[in-house]
Amino acid sequence: MPAMKEPTAGAGDRDPPLRTLRRELARGAVEQARSGGTAVALGVLHEDVSFYLDAEAFAREYQAFFREMPLVACLSTDLPEPGSYRIFDDTGVPIFITRGKDGRVRAFLNICPHRGARLVRTECGSASRFTCRFHGWTFDATGKAIGVPEEGQFCGGIEAQKHLVPCPAEERHGLVFVQATPCSIMDLDRHLGAFDRELAIIGLGNAWRVRGDDLPVAANWKYGLDTFFETYHLNSLHRETFKGLFSPICVFETFGRHHRYTFAPLAVHKWLDMPESQWQVDLLPLQYFLFPNTILSVGSTSPNGCVVNIHRIFPQSVGHFVSKMAYCAIGGVESPEYRAEIDRAYETARAALLNEDYSVAGESHPGLPALPPGTKLPVGRQEIGVQNFHRNVHELMGT
Ligand code: FES
Ligand SMILES: [Fe+2]
Repeated sequence: MPAMKEPTAGAGDRDPPLRTLRRELARGAVEQARSGGTAVALGVLHEDVSFYLDAEAFAREYQAFFREMPLVACLSTDLPEPGSYRIFDDTGVPIFITRGKDGRVRAFLNICPHRGARLVRTECGSASRFTCRFHGWTFDATGKAIGVPEEGQFCGGIEAQKHLVPCPAEERHGLVFVQATPCSIMDLDRHLGAFDRELAIIGLGNAWRVRGDDLPVAANWKYGLDTFFETYHLNSLHRETFKGLFSPICVFETFGRHHRYTFAPLAVHKWLDMPESQWQVDLLPLQYFLFPNTILSVGSTSPNGCVVNIHRIFPQSVGHFVSKMAYCAIGGVESPEYRAEIDRAYETARAALLNEDYSVAGESHPGLPALPPGTKLPVGRQEIGVQNFHRNVHELMGT
């Protein structure tokens, strides 16, 4: 049973941690509004156009970020009970994740150790054991081979290689992380650092997937991510969709490679003349970037701030990526009104991504190679989230 949604009482000393955080950030946004400013970087970043085009750099990034780093594979609630399983193929490595009788989440190569057949063939479901359709080997949720037909005919020579090959997997604050290299070491504490505390505040352990879609885009994966990291384009590209909801004022904070990008609702200008206790801080959307590919938006298109949407971007090639979106209800869908709110938020965001952000990305990509080699694209001071992302990519890749 999903737990109940957090109460939405007004300001007070019993505010839940998410509201307390929003209140702090609202103070920052009001200060920005008062001074007519927004979060800015120290200077302009001049990015070489090859950042989006270089195939050799892409191959190195793919290995470092999508094979050797923890990735968000699904929500904890996607594996709601012992026996729940789910395929995770998005890195090109066939993997499935399952929750064991002990409640622990484990990931394995979705490859039968007998002759390499695909073991789990349905996207998700529930099973206490997994049987390969080729010759009938059967495995439990710990990856152990528990049935090998005619095993005696092998003369006992298969003990070491008859079990499933594990990949690192770990749950943290409602997210399931997987590292897509079998038998590697995943250091999630090191990867998350101070971001761990923010994740705990969001409360994704109680977020239930309601709607989702996979959007294929013919552009570089970093170009796609960049569109989430600045509000400079709000009044132009999103003039029909989000301009009326949000102000370009943002409060920005980094947590190692990850960041929080809070853009203020238009109401922030009214808050200037109101006592703090009357600010509707639940209107404040929190947008997080979890390096290398995941955006967590908390209440970003919702009037009462209780919709969480998750976008994960998985590259397919230097010029193609798939954007996987999932809209989630904290505490589950409790009423038709809440469901309608989520539907509205989902439809608005999906249309904006397809017709605006990703449309620009897809139109830009084929044109970029025509620019003279060495062309630098300016990333402005107010595009601070883009700068932060690019700096981290360069630092990690030594470029
Ligand atoms: S390949 Fe799976 S049992 Fe033979
Ligand atoms: Fe956008």
